[in-house]
Parts: sequence; structure tokens; C-alpha cells
Amino acid sequence: MKIAICGVTGAVGKEVLRCIKDLSLQYDTLDCYASANSAGKTIESPLGHFVIRPFSLDACSGYDLIFLCVSGSFSARYAEKLLLNNRYVIDNSSNFRYDDQVPLVIPEINFHTVKNHRLIANPNCTTAILSLPLYPIYQAFGLKRIIVSTYQATSGGGQAAMDELREESLRFLQEDAAGHHHFVHPIPFNLIPAIDTFQPNGYTREEMKVVWETQKIFEDDQIKISATAVRVPTFRAHAESITLETAHPIDMNKVYSLLGTTPGVTLVDDPENHLYPMPITASGNANVEVGRIRKNNVFGENGLDLFICGDQLLKGAALNAVQIAQHLFK
Ligand SMILES: NC(=O)c1ccc[n+]([C@@H]2O[C@H](COP(=O)([O-])OP(=O)(O)OC[C@H]3O[C@@H](n4cnc5c(N)ncnc54)[C@H](OP(=O)(O)O)[C@@H]3O)[C@@H](O)[C@H]2O)c1
Repeated sequence: MKIAICGVTGAVGKEVLRCIKDLSLQYDTLDCYASANSAGKTIESPLGHFVIRPFSLDACSGYDLIFLCVSGSFSARYAEKLLLNNRYVIDNSSNFRYDDQVPLVIPEINFHTVKNHRLIANPNCTTAILSLPLYPIYQAFGLKRIIVSTYQATSGGGQAAMDELREESLRFLQEDAAGHHHFVHPIPFNLIPAIDTFQPNGYTREEMKVVWETQKIFEDDQIKISATAVRVPTFRAHAESITLETAHPIDMNKVYSLLGTTPGVTLVDDPENHLYPMPITASGNANVEVGRIRKNNVFGENGLDLFICGDQLLKGAALNAVQIAQHLFK
């Protein structure tokens, strides 16, 4: 088993290393690639240290599995070429997610779509975290409408975005003014209701990704979804406030029992004891926290509200990618 990680110095790539260790994914060879800027440097990880190789198509050849953790334009340029000399490519970018010929996979939900494919797309972080607890509700009660507002951590913008939150927060506390480079506005002590580019319909691309990807993963394009995606000044773990209209009346006991037994989901729903999902508890954890579960007073018997929080570098990226690999080589 020969594995390569491309983009190992990034927010996702580093976590792929950690997840390979945590999930005990077996390998004989594990090679780490990044840009020429990082070539020759060493990366420390729970699996030991690795000397970073400069990526090229010639060098990145002969692997059973490649984790691509770079960018959409990088994947557009190289992913299919990599399939010529490697067996599987799991792509973390958004480049192939909406391609009918490429499966978009959350193993707990739709691993069957991989079939004979060798290029597999890993979903958007917000969608992955949302889909995991919603799928059992969808199966039990059907879903007509999903209205979701997100509170997305800076890590969703990559390592540079997390660095900017740290550096500009310090600057703000010392100088009473924060700058910005990665974000279009200062992020410390602020929130920005715009992630990715605006679309002609007024939604951002990040918001439309939730629509396109949830429908593709659930294999149901009849579910109506409206999302508002907001960047908030946390380091990692996205939170999402969700309002659902189901096709069939909600049975709250069943909801609790489903969410309490869904793999990858942890119920954190004890408001009297101040327990609910939060980035501070979800960060670094594989499971998506679900709480604030209640019937909503808009859709009546068919209405359910939830608040969820999940580490989007884990289930929203690296962990899901390594779980796909586990299923491929089971
Ligand atoms: N962050 C998230 O929460 C998240 C979630 C889901 C999906 N994704 C997707 O995952 C991908 C990686 O995101 P990220 O947040 O990890 O980004 P990131 O922190 O900016 O890291 C980018 C990585 O790509 C490498 N790279 C850049 N140009 C390269 C080249 N020419 N050849 C080889 N490597 C190159 C960088 O290496 P150097 O250090 O050498 O420049 C770095 O390792 C993106 O497509 C993103 O949309 C991210």
C-alpha cells in the first residue's frame, strides 16, 4: 500500500496525516508533497516526521492512493492525469463535486456510489457536517425543506486564514485595530456573512455548495435548501443552526434515539446543564455534536430545529477522506 498526500503543509493535509494514524490506515510507503516552497523541509506529525517532496506528475506516480489537499485549480489541472499512473485519487477540492461522473462520498451514507470509480470527491465541510445527522432524519421522516445558517471557523479558509485570526487578534488587543489580507474584512471580533463568490441568485457559492452537495449525497434533488454562510472568528469547528420541514410528522423519541445511535454523531443536548454543541468542545473531535433539539413552532408537527457543531477539518475534510480510503481497502 503506497500512499501520497499532496498539500501536506496545509490545514487539511496535516489532518490527513493525523487521521491516518488515528484510524490506523495501513501503509507500506507514505510520501508527502507540497509546493516547491516547502520542498526539503520537514513536517512533524503523529506518524513521525517526513521530508516534504516537491510535487510533479512524474514524482507523484505509482501510488495506490493519493489524497489531494491543494486547490480546485490544482485538482482541475492534475487529478485526472494522476489517475494514469496511480490507482485512486481522493480530491478534497470542490472541482469535481458537481461532476455526474465523479462520486461525492460520505461513507456512512453513499459509499455504494464509488462502484468502479477511481476519482472520488470529498464533500464541502459544511455539507459533510450537516449531512451526517440529517440523513437518519431524512430516512425516517423525509425532508421537504432545510433552512440553515452557518457559523464557519477560519480554518475553513486554510492555514493562512487561521494564522490571520491569531495575528490580527493580537494586533487588535495591542493596537486597537486589526488588518486583513486573507479575508475581505478584519475577522477578529467580527463576523462576515459572505464566504466564496456571490452567484447571480444572490446566494454565495459556499451556500449553493450546501444545496448541490446535499442533494447529490442524498440522491434526492427534490429537497429544498436555503443556506446563509457566515465566517466567525473561531479557529476550527463549524456550527450550524438548522430548521427542518419533514414530509411526515416528527416523533421526538425517535429523533433522540436515531441521533443517539448514528455513527459519527454525539448527542450533546442537556440545556439545563449548559450542554449544547460548541466549537470549544467539537474541535479536535471526530464526531459531529448535535443538540438544541426541539420541535419548531413554524412547521408544527413536521418541524424540527437542531444546532450542530463539527470539526470541519476532520469530518468536513481529512477524516472523511481517510474513512473513504478505509472503505476502499477494506
Ligand atoms: N480548510 C477546510 O476546512 C477545508 C475543508 C474541506 C475541503 N477543503 C479543501 O481542501 C483543499 C486544501 O485546503 P486547505 O484549507 O488545507 O488549504 P491550505 O491550508 O491553503 O493548504 C494548501 C496546500 O497546498 C499546497 N500547494 C499549493 N500549491 C501547490 C503546488 N503547486 N504543488 C503542491 N502543493 C501545493 C500548499 O503547500 P505549500 O505550503 O508548499 O504552499 C499547502 O500544503 C482546498 O481545495 C480546500 O477547498 C478545505
